[in-house]
Amino acid sequence: MSTLAGKHIVLGLSGGIAAFKSAELCRALVKAGVTVQVVMTEAAEHFMTAVTLQALSGRPVYTSQWDPREANNMAHINLSREADAIVVAPASADFMAKLLHGGADELLSLMCLARPIDKVPLIVAPAMNREMWANPATQRNVAQLKADGIHVLDVGQGDQACGETGDGRMLEAEEILDDLEAFFSPKVLAGKSVLVTAGPTYEAIDPVRGITNLSSGKMGFAIARAARMAGADVTLIAGPVSLETPRGVKRVNVRSAHDMLQAVQAHVPDQGVFVATAAVADWRPANSADQKIKKDGSGQTPQLSFVENPDILATVAQSAAAQTGALFCVGFAAESHDLLAHATAKRLRKGVPLLVGNIGPATFGQDDNALLLVDASGARELPYASKQALAVQLIDDIAARLTR
Ligand code: C5P
Repeated sequence: MSTLAGKHIVLGLSGGIAAFKSAELCRALVKAGVTVQVVMTEAAEHFMTAVTLQALSGRPVYTSQWDPREANNMAHINLSREADAIVVAPASADFMAKLLHGGADELLSLMCLARPIDKVPLIVAPAMNREMWANPATQRNVAQLKADGIHVLDVGQGDQACGETGDGRMLEAEEILDDLEAFFSPKVLAGKSVLVTAGPTYEAIDPVRGITNLSSGKMGFAIARAARMAGADVTLIAGPVSLETPRGVKRVNVRSAHDMLQAVQAHVPDQGVFVATAAVADWRPANSADQKIKKDGSGQTPQLSFVENPDILATVAQSAAAQTGALFCVGFAAESHDLLAHATAKRLRKGVPLLVGNIGPATFGQDDNALLLVDASGARELPYASKQALAVQLIDDIAARLTR
């Protein structure tokens, strides 16, 4: 379940072409279980109608501080007191300048000023032309808003409505949703660095053929995302998969087990946690041909021989950092049967404090899974759920182990 479920968010729109993304954001928030109260400035109404946002939020939209629907005629007080957060998206350059100076000449800025600062966080998603964004005045304002405790989200990069290209567009709705989810997630891994391997490896036979393992990478990507939501600095070393990089996660793409080992060794110093979810190929062809091996019609098959790949997890688990407890290593085991017995044996063989078992064929490529957490004192089951929900539970479990 999303950390946003059950929250009440006031979604403020100031004037900007990115207002169309706010309609999507509103819909996504409602889908995540949020009650959304929309407040719009007059400028915002030039870009999007209140009718659309009322329909999407299921609540009448507020556009004026003189709204007679409020018995005490104090919409700015009433709306801000009931909110878990105020999110202004889009936040125009002008609106941010106004926030900075405590301007309050219309409902949205008035409400932001009147909010109880300690209880109701203010999150803004800037949206503007690249020159406006780069202007020292805007950059000064952003720095000061941050210093004032306002959460200023990043801007996107790319084509702008004006035809120019650069920094300043508003993040996409799902990116803002992700940042809001992260904002509300307990920061159980704050200050920690987490390294995750995910996906399969690919071992080339020749330039067009190779051997690989069944692995979508979904579990590892979900763990990287959950670790970032929990406040960690996350590096994800990914084998060949076609998954989007979780927001805020550094990704390093690799192909073979050998590449993966090198990338892990380059990044593992200074990490506090290593989670090896990758399905690393156990063997690679002893010789990879430079040119495509041709079928000559004789019925002869190529004679392949294999060599064993390095065991990345076992190698890291034997390092001084892991042995002294500075690095906490977590292994995964994809089994087809006898999960507890195999996972228990694998934990000892790999030399890791925690090994997570799952039934491989049941979960390959799926969005759901069930996990068995095996440590020195026994096993704990995380029952069938989405990989993202399981990842959050696993990260919580790991964080608790770090503080023991
Ligand atoms: O031995 P097996 O492949 O089942 O072990 C699975 C665990 O070991 C996973 O955590 C996987 O990422 C890791 N592993 C590894 N390097 C290998 C083989 C497995 O890091 N060569």
